[in-house]
Amino acid sequence: MSVIETAGLTKRYARVTALDQLDVNVGDGVTGLVGANGAGKSTLIKILLGLVPATSGTATVLGHDVATEGGRIRSLVGYMPEHDCLPADTSASDMVVHLGQMSGLPYAAARERAADVLRHVGLAEERYRPIGGYSTGMKQRAKLAQALVHDPRLVLLDEPTNGLDPSSRNDMLTLVRRVGKEFGIAVLVTSHLLGELEQVSDHVVVLDSGRLLRSSATTDFLYATGSLLVEVQGLPDADRLLGQALVAAGLEARPAEGALIEVDVRDASTPDLVRDLTVDLGLGLVRMQERHHRIEDVFRDGGAGSVQPV
Ligand SMILES: Nc1ncnc2c1ncn2[C@@H]1O[C@H](COP(=O)(O)OP(=O)(O)O)[C@@H](O)[C@H]1O
Ligand SMILES: [Mg+2]
Repeated sequence: MSVIETAGLTKRYARVTALDQLDVNVGDGVTGLVGANGAGKSTLIKILLGLVPATSGTATVLGHDVATEGGRIRSLVGYMPEHDCLPADTSASDMVVHLGQMSGLPYAAARERAADVLRHVGLAEERYRPIGGYSTGMKQRAKLAQALVHDPRLVLLDEPTNGLDPSSRNDMLTLVRRVGKEFGIAVLVTSHLLGELEQVSDHVVVLDSGRLLRSSATTDFLYATGSLLVEVQGLPDADRLLGQALVAAGLEARPAEGALIEVDVRDASTPDLVRDLTVDLGLGLVRMQERHHRIEDVFRDGGAGSVQPV
């Protein structure tokens, strides 16, 4: 069963079309939802929670219709909102216990779960302090904790790395990955930064002005942009010889800096092909490494041009 499925989903506000005929299908694992500011990410999440009605089209979450079963969906789903929304004079512990009770947990169970999830997000020590004194990173972790307290089947995390410095951002991304992998909870996580979602997502959905630009496995994004840097030795013009052999074998290859050869990765067999051709020429393979490539390379030449790289 799909975790999230939309068909022709459209949301029009007075001045803008926030979502335009969106067809997406999200499965288990971690899915990154990427798009520039204003692309429609938060609108999609609010529709999926049954908090905002769509103008047209349909959507289901865990098989439930967002138009008629919002309450049921919210009991099965955890939500980490984008903006700061925490009560300054309440401790993280009290806040998470309270929200756990609102999700239907009895008081004792809510306390137990709150202690657990606050420990998981790294707020065990500080949980009795008022949230008003927390750093941005701690507030983001408190927001994540409340999204997990009722043991949801799916969490919707809206820009969890917003406002974080690089080191806290990495900590948060590691946490997001753990939620998906160790706890086995399906995750939809948004960001306007393409680069950071490739680290944590199994699947990436890209929105551009409310439209679906691309939806594919993260590895497909990387293959589409990947290349190998190859260094060979054995003859004075070893690099040129191998370059010719690669091109003759139908690969895209070109000279790179320092007598290296850059080869575009066509599919998973490309490294083997490079190795075999090197051996056939009687050359020695000194090294073969992946050239640093990122999802945002897909958008280098147009597409979601306003999406910011990290
Ligand atoms: N309540 C609203 N009323 C009018 N326009 C809105 C409202 N919420 C969002 N929008 C508009 O819809 C578009 C998508 O917004 P949003 O979903 O917040 O994008 P994102 O989360 O990707 O930054 C933007 O142009 C935004 O200004
Ligand atoms: Mg948003």
